[in-house]
Amino acid sequence: MKKECVLVCGGAGYIGSHTTVELINAGYDVVIVDNFSNSEMSAVENVRKITGVEIPCIEADCCDMEAFRKVFEKYEFNSAIHFAASKAVGESLEKPMLYYRNNLTSLMNLIDLMREFGRQNIVFSSSCTVYGEPDKQPVTEQTPRKPATSPYGNTKQISEDILRDSMAAYKGMKTIALRYFNPIGAHPSAMIGELPRGVPQNLVPYVTQTAAGIRECLSVFGDDYNTPDGSCIRDYIDVTDLAKAHVAAINRMIQGRSEENYEIFNVGTGRGVSVLELVNKFQEVNNVKLNFKIAPRRPGDIIAIWADPTRANTVLGWKAERTIEETLASAWNWEKHLRGIK
Ligand code: UFG
Repeated sequence: MKKECVLVCGGAGYIGSHTTVELINAGYDVVIVDNFSNSEMSAVENVRKITGVEIPCIEADCCDMEAFRKVFEKYEFNSAIHFAASKAVGESLEKPMLYYRNNLTSLMNLIDLMREFGRQNIVFSSSCTVYGEPDKQPVTEQTPRKPATSPYGNTKQISEDILRDSMAAYKGMKTIALRYFNPIGAHPSAMIGELPRGVPQNLVPYVTQTAAGIRECLSVFGDDYNTPDGSCIRDYIDVTDLAKAHVAAINRMIQGRSEENYEIFNVGTGRGVSVLELVNKFQEVNNVKLNFKIAPRRPGDIIAIWADPTRANTVLGWKAERTIEETLASAWNWEKHLRGIK
């Protein structure tokens, strides 16, 4: 029997590469399209090694309609996952047009081409950033969205709206938007993981680079918040668990189980972990000493947010499985593998 094929836009990136592995494990064929603006070909090569499958990878920009159309002409897939977007909150404040153009054009091109070629299912990478600073924890999919505090966050809200309206109008097409909480960790093989360019902006890559001696000292941004230990709280989700949520979303749409043409799911563990807790767990689990200091608050940070993942657990049949300890061990293994540390 011919396998179902999934187009993975941005498949060389952090979440895209892990999702490609899980799609192959679940019996799907995959075609990757990536412009390598913030990713490396080596990730695709390592995904091929992990899976033993010669996954096709086309170097093209999803914002370039003509280049993108060629992918649709050449490959038969009925589902696509849209990871092809820029994701740095700080950079988006400096270069808003880059974010609006890149994140929205690539999505609109995808929707247009899916329609033109009669392809059906889209999984979209949304973010818990759409909730802003929530009034109540944990957040459910019904928690109201707050005005975005960065152009990046705004592209996620606008993208959700574009998809909601398009799915209402274009019968036969379906979308599942996954609102990710904070993805961390790496594949258990340590062959793929996060590859930040320059100084990491996110907590865990900064932690692993500090432990590896590349950064001198981790700054914990704020210990005077209204939380039990004074540092911010997040819901850290293992990247392989997150990858599996995409497989569950694709399965749901292909098997015709979606109740609506546009559905939203929180993808988190349901567990809030503070920055200081994470730093301590990282040191314990990996038996390493981490140089860190308390620094001023980072402007724009949300104080606390964690998911109510009940809808994903019950309706999607997906649940986060990894413990934070396992995930922090995988993050360190990946950093050691990258730097050749024994
Ligand atoms: N932090 C530090 N030191 C650092 C880096 C981060 O203390 O060097 C703290 C932050 O202040 C925050 C926590 O670690 O309290 C997590 O910060 P990240 O930058 O790792 O993640 P954010 O929660 O700020 O952002 C993430 C994603 C965004 C997404 C957002 C939604 O990176 O893409 O969650 O809230 F939009």
